[in-house]
Amino acid sequence: MSKNVERDALIAAAQAVRVHAHAPYSRFAVGAAVLDEQGRIHAGCNVENAAYPQGWCAEASALAVMVAAGGRRVLAVAVCGVADQPVTPCGGCRQKLREFAADDCPVVLADMTGHRASFTLGALLPHSFGPEHLPT
Ligand code: THU
Repeated sequence: MSKNVERDALIAAAQAVRVHAHAPYSRFAVGAAVLDEQGRIHAGCNVENAAYPQGWCAEASALAVMVAAGGRRVLAVAVCGVADQPVTPCGGCRQKLREFAADDCPVVLADMTGHRASFTLGALLPHSFGPEHLPT
């Protein structure tokens, strides 16, 4: 698959799942999709909770779906949110992505109309701590 087709498919998955966000408190719906090492796309949305801190982000949902399906590497990420500026992953989600993705992993930011911006995970989370720091 060409990189552009892959990117568009990831964005489409993030846009589609965003519709299912449970965000009655912030009213800020987010969708995320990750491409795994088998070429599969896994998508998830944010899930808020009446006990506010118990909610979680779209990226965390997408990663959980990937892990549950047996995926262990993230080759690309798309995040879809609607705001004046492209919606980037929060700090905690950057670290969650870091568990499964390399510094050069593209993180594509989109709204419901399409691509807005792209960064690498390394640019979003420089000098990061990861699994290789821990003794095996
Ligand atoms: N949120 C995400 O799901 N992903 C992001 O990248 C940014 C923020 C969610 C968390 C919360 O449910 C809502 O957006 C407002 O912060």
